Amino acid sequence: MSVVQKAVALAPDAWVPGGHPDPLIHHRSGLIGAPVPRIDAPQKVAGQARFAAEVPLDGMLYAALVYSTIAKGRLASLDTSAAAAAPGVALVMTHRNAPRLQPLPTFTSNMRSAAQDSIPVLQDDRIHWNGQPVALVLAETQEQADYAKSMLHPVYEPEHAVTRFAEAKAAGLETGAMMGMQFKDEINDAEKVLATSPVKVDEVYSTPRHNHNALELHAVTVIWEDDNLTVHDATQKLAHTAWSLAHAFGLDEKQVRVLSPYVGGGFGGKGLWQHHLLAAAAARLAGRPVRLVLTREGVYRIVGGRTLTEQRVAIGARPDGKFEALIHIGKVAMTPHNNMPEPLIMGTRGRYAARALRLEVQAARVDMMANTFMRAPGEAVGTFALESAVDELAARLDMDPIELRLRNEPDKEPTSGLPFSLREVEKIFRDGAERFGWSRRNQTPGQRREGEWLIGTGVASGTYPHNRMPGGAARLTVTRDGHATVEFAGQEMGMGTATVHAQVTAERLGLPMTRVAAKYGDSLLPGRVMAVGSAQTTSFGAAIAATHKKLVKELTSLAGNDSPLAGLSPDEVGGLNAGLAKLDDPTRHESYASILSRAGRMELTVEAEAPPPLETMHWSMHSHSAMFCEVKVNAVTGEIRVSRILGSFACGRILNARTASSQFRGAIIMGIGLALMEETQFDERNGRIMNASLSEYHVPVHMDVPEIEVMWTDTPDPHAPMGAHGVGEIGITGTAAAIANAVFNATGKRIRDLPITLDKLL
Ligand code: MOS
Repeated sequence: MSVVQKAVALAPDAWVPGGHPDPLIHHRSGLIGAPVPRIDAPQKVAGQARFAAEVPLDGMLYAALVYSTIAKGRLASLDTSAAAAAPGVALVMTHRNAPRLQPLPTFTSNMRSAAQDSIPVLQDDRIHWNGQPVALVLAETQEQADYAKSMLHPVYEPEHAVTRFAEAKAAGLETGAMMGMQFKDEINDAEKVLATSPVKVDEVYSTPRHNHNALELHAVTVIWEDDNLTVHDATQKLAHTAWSLAHAFGLDEKQVRVLSPYVGGGFGGKGLWQHHLLAAAAARLAGRPVRLVLTREGVYRIVGGRTLTEQRVAIGARPDGKFEALIHIGKVAMTPHNNMPEPLIMGTRGRYAARALRLEVQAARVDMMANTFMRAPGEAVGTFALESAVDELAARLDMDPIELRLRNEPDKEPTSGLPFSLREVEKIFRDGAERFGWSRRNQTPGQRREGEWLIGTGVASGTYPHNRMPGGAARLTVTRDGHATVEFAGQEMGMGTATVHAQVTAERLGLPMTRVAAKYGDSLLPGRVMAVGSAQTTSFGAAIAATHKKLVKELTSLAGNDSPLAGLSPDEVGGLNAGLAKLDDPTRHESYASILSRAGRMELTVEAEAPPPLETMHWSMHSHSAMFCEVKVNAVTGEIRVSRILGSFACGRILNARTASSQFRGAIIMGIGLALMEETQFDERNGRIMNASLSEYHVPVHMDVPEIEVMWTDTPDPHAPMGAHGVGEIGITGTAAAIANAVFNATGKRIRDLPITLDKLL
């Protein structure tokens, strides 16, 4: 722990943001939590929402990329003459003519960066991974660019590349660390305590590489006007992308504008990759606007995915189920040009009480594309291992797996000693068990059979931290005709950001939703918050709260002595019926229209920043889930069908029942993919991804997904803005383990290697 962390941990509650609960927690107008439909839905269904690959620009050129087929070495030669002479071609760019760029820090080492790897390519003849771009073609049409690209035949001089995980591990492992945080915890001598524990499990669980498959392909449409660069992007990192491009091209940050009003899914994959740099570089060389849309294969070649993992989980317990020792050590892959040690122990840190703990992430370096964030990085695969092991222990103890979990609930966060801001693990298990009908379960595996189908049920817990990002800021405007606009540099990837912030703004102001507009998706708007870590809502939510507070202060001062509000301090008033009212006496009310017209103002605009997110160093703040699942396994073919799934969640206050349900369901579906399908086929001999398409990389389709039930406690976290936790990633955590545990209950077979495919069951 750093000095700052220690000081914040010990500070009085009232000194820390969240020490005074957000007044919004107590508002009950009916708007917060309501299933408000997405405000961006009408444009989308009418085909009016313009995505990054659809922005029309005069004189635009289309780009195609050539990807390396070796993992390491140099580009020995590349004859570009035929391609350059092909119809419609405006430019062939290689390392010989590409503009020089500044190398970028990755986002895991610099808070302002959006870069997910640190190498600008086409700067020299070096090849760093199989799939790295080595040339770019610009032409008048996409077809002409693709055709000309087919005329490029690079000749490589390969060198030895470390592409086998075994070789990488043998070369040495380093303890994972990110932003100064070491992924290593030790309390007492866990190995020694394990050795003397009366009951134990000690197993290795593995998960394969995964690739990103957002529905919308990565795309940029870029235009230079003098030294000003505008990028129409599909990103979850607006302001950070602007900073990164400015850094790479040696510009002032204000010279770069990134626009991204609509994004078709991000999941951690929509940051800054090589295509941003290449498109902007090519547009500069050609002196014309450029569109670069990655093909689906292109996404596999240059957008990183999730690392493979090998995780040892060992639990030593007493006969009554109380944990004595808990060990969770995971090995992961990283590249020389990024720093993303999949933090798979994060969920374990705050999950169970044990006398001795040993947790660690160990990274090996391989020559491949940079791995990156992918929905619930760490927890998604970490909880698979941990929660499978807990189920194995329950079976060994012949104990109900829910009771075993509840018996090991900690009363404070085991690794940090911080108090929990809100902990409802027992409640979500009990409520979920009742809804699911858990008591009807047969604890002995392989007992339920209907025809060819073996049926089993399983449970697991999921956890995800409540994060809040620094850099939150917002702008609020109220007008004399009683309308309001909230502006923030937020990223709407389809999850409901715009809607929820419009809802919260309307609630704070006492206006109906129809009178509140939200502006977002533009790096020139206030705030520097990326949509990651399930933290966007709370990060901009805290900024909107601060902005609203400032607005109320200015309005009460504008109201002056001739107002029913005269003499009241800003803390005594709140938004009500299109104006301000005394909190405990709503008859003392004046409308925004009246205040502004008396002051001779048409409108009032204020801007403010959120306080730094110190609360997450003062309390242990987490979302939790209890995942219940029923599977059917065909005794003849081994086919696995998830037949029922229920997620019981504790995520603080839910702001919008409709968008939150969709987030939970979407993440659970991704969890089904993690458990049963997703697997990057990586050829360890040459570092090539072999299944770079949706026909060979399987994700769940509708037929694979049963009706998903979700439920939640809706208890506000008194220390979180709006009382709310993020809901984007919690749903994937725990899901894979619940499915694996149900497969065990159905068949008696314990599969410790994802995905659980039928061959592993036969
Ligand atoms: Mo999320 S993997 O932090 O977009």
